[in-house]
Amino acid sequence: MAMQDSYNRTIDYLRISITDKCNLKCVYCKPKASLKHFSGSEVLTSEEIIRLVRIAHKYGVKKVRLTGGEPLMRKDVVQLISSIKRIGIPDLSLTTNGIMLADLAEDLKKAGLDRVNISLDSMNAERFKTITNGGDLDRVLKALDAAEKNGFSPVKINIVPIRGFNDDEIISFASLTLSKDYHIRFIEFMPVGCNEIWEKGKCISAAEVIERISTLGELTHLEFKGKGPSRNYQLKGARGIIGVISPITDHFCKFCNRLRLTADGKIRPCLFSNVEIDVRTPMKNGATDEEIDKLFCHAIEVKPERHLLDKDTNSSKFLQAMSKIGG
Ligand code: GTP
Ligand code: 5AD
Repeated sequence: MAMQDSYNRTIDYLRISITDKCNLKCVYCKPKASLKHFSGSEVLTSEEIIRLVRIAHKYGVKKVRLTGGEPLMRKDVVQLISSIKRIGIPDLSLTTNGIMLADLAEDLKKAGLDRVNISLDSMNAERFKTITNGGDLDRVLKALDAAEKNGFSPVKINIVPIRGFNDDEIISFASLTLSKDYHIRFIEFMPVGCNEIWEKGKCISAAEVIERISTLGELTHLEFKGKGPSRNYQLKGARGIIGVISPITDHFCKFCNRLRLTADGKIRPCLFSNVEIDVRTPMKNGATDEEIDKLFCHAIEVKPERHLLDKDTNSSKFLQAMSKIGG
């Protein structure tokens, strides 16, 4: 039974942050000041996550994405994937920085993971190190190979182009689609609570990204399939796809089909709203499935019509750090 929210949107996608810890410290994602992490006992157990996925599945969720922090830092990630897949989720994916992926790719595939989206903001090893605060680009390149080899398809790469940081790589990232069947997605730089480096001028709009890429050759706008934030394009003769995700200049809330579950067990109906429904405390207190069902349906009912980031950057304060919820 698929559920609709108060604005007639079908909600069939659940993003689950399975840990708020990350092994990188990207300048635009994680605040400089040390971030207080959830304690071990605050984080949902795998049994609690599986119980919630079972409930979500009953109410029509077909797509589940594990995020973090960095989801591969969670020790039971492979077993978790296997249990979620067995519930009958047809599209099970993961958003990762790729640092730990090469070693885990085969086990994740066997466990039933369908796809991976890899965050990668520079192909220059020195710059990658600076952006991520010490990350090793080579490991992410190995992750891309491993993702292809293990048949994760399509492999999506997420880049946040930031003026003066990495925007000179927009063209070379886009060119990758000529030889590889990757989906390369450019995400507009969003302000989040304690993001020290965000400035309006640093955010490169989707329109500017497309204008710059157009210099590479004929670019066809692909039909919008109605789901997901990415608007897709293809260069003539390319194997891959170029996507732009425009939360700032052209928000996609009208088509939003998702709920988020935070690592500490709160259902968050909108990334940029402070409305959260605690499901961990009731589960710890012995709530029945019927009680959790009600909370799940309530989260869908109270999903806001849209975020207000384009009107009021103050609403960014509702999201303390992207690194805690994984986008
Ligand atoms: P698929 O298209 O199914 O592969 O997944 P996806 O694009 O939903 O997942 P991914 O984690 O790769 O999302 C890409 C980025 O888009 C996220 O990291 C966020 O930065 C941004 N994003 C995704 N969903 C939302 C949303 O609901 N609101 C806003 N403002 N940004 C979002
Ligand atoms: N603006 C846009 N995207 C962001 N991400 C992290 N912080 C931001 C931000 N401020 C993206 C990462 C990764 C995903 C988890 O969220 O690049 O792909």
